[in-house]
Amino acid sequence: MDSILIEGGNALQGEVQIIGAKNSALKLMVAALLSDDPVTLTNMPELADTGFLAHLMRHLGAEVATGPTGTMQICAKSLGEPVAPYDLVRKMRATFNVLGPLLARKGRAQVSLPGGCAIGARPVDLHLEALSALGAKIELKEGYAYATAPNGLTGAKISFPFVSVGATEHAMLAAVLAKGETELLNAAREPEILDLANMLNAMGARIKNAGHASIQITGVEKLHGVNYAVVSDRIEAGTYALAAAACPNSDVKVSNCVPSDLDALWAAMQRAGIDVQTSKTSVRIRRGPERLRPVDLETQAWPGFPTDLQAQFMALMTLADGASIIRETIFENRFMHGPELSRLGADITVHGREAVVRGVTGLTGAPVMATDLRASVSLVIAGLTAKGQTRVSRIYHLDRGFQNLEANLTALGANIRRVKDD
Ligand code: EPZ
Repeated sequence: MDSILIEGGNALQGEVQIIGAKNSALKLMVAALLSDDPVTLTNMPELADTGFLAHLMRHLGAEVATGPTGTMQICAKSLGEPVAPYDLVRKMRATFNVLGPLLARKGRAQVSLPGGCAIGARPVDLHLEALSALGAKIELKEGYAYATAPNGLTGAKISFPFVSVGATEHAMLAAVLAKGETELLNAAREPEILDLANMLNAMGARIKNAGHASIQITGVEKLHGVNYAVVSDRIEAGTYALAAAACPNSDVKVSNCVPSDLDALWAAMQRAGIDVQTSKTSVRIRRGPERLRPVDLETQAWPGFPTDLQAQFMALMTLADGASIIRETIFENRFMHGPELSRLGADITVHGREAVVRGVTGLTGAPVMATDLRASVSLVIAGLTAKGQTRVSRIYHLDRGFQNLEANLTALGANIRRVKDD
């Protein structure tokens, strides 16, 4: 296994280019299962997670080829048995979203339930309820969802009891080929939802108001192929912005992103005393040598502060001049980075869904362990600011969602490298 070694203390200067969003790319890949025609995705990130999904899609009979510089071609003309086995689903939860498209294309599917995850139980009950509302008969047995829709799916009004990104996407993926009208109420509004709707509409779907809490879908008989560019990764953009903000005397331009997707982050960073200047496609982050102000925040569904940037923001707050309270409202166990940050000298107390971060004057390098994707990158950010050497182990978590992380940070002036563990 690999680790990352960081010698902290350098300022970050220069420019970093953001690639396509992991959390959009995965759903766009699944959307390609809805058509007989070839689909080409560009601005694709090359990540362990997109690799896991490609593997499952090949198993299902799709042809998946990765081309040069972020291109992926998918052709799902001849799908085979619609069975997604446990071994191919357990590694990455978003694979579960093949259930809806398989049902829509084949009238039946057997997909392993994804199980729990380090950040929370993450059930899929809302996904299953949405598919049932569209007419699927679903039985759960032996760890699998067995679903049938022999007469096809039928449009329905689906009101989600709370906002779920994955369930909204799954319902959209199934409803585009259902007979008649579907309405999704209390739908998620994340930019990745809009990206999925834009791609599906470019394939001939009829989805209105994606990005709003109420989405209307008129089913169509067939979807055609498309050439589609994945939206830029707002979480990757926010992560580099927070890395720059954490290192005194930094000046970094984060390019090829959509800053308006991250207004809640910029507001929180400005409250902390960071100079944030946004344009349409880039953001410049500057901070001087002075300590930052503490900021309280709460994670929320879009357009609130994203849970996927909570750990990175906590790393920033460890060095603030005072105490901040960070409340996690989306996942019940998303503070596992707290004890690891404390190993670097941070003062963090976690009470259930709330963490109190009392800013300290300095962090000191130490060996730490990654527990999930965003937690691991928060340890990297903390390591960039710590005195001495930080070793982050179990970085396979990082490879699930960050492409070229060490190379990008090195280009900005960080002292960071990947090493093989003994
Ligand atoms: C997506 O997960 C993202 N993953 C997550 O990113 C992100 O943190 C999350 O949305 C919130 O923005 C992908 O897009 C692949 P949810 P998702 O359904 O869709 C509960 C990362 O680091 N829930 O909006 O799974 C659930 O347990 C990852 O990149 C149910 O109870 O999130 C959670 O508490 C981590 N039943 C809440 O809803 C359900 O059927 C919101 O989850 C579905 C969800």
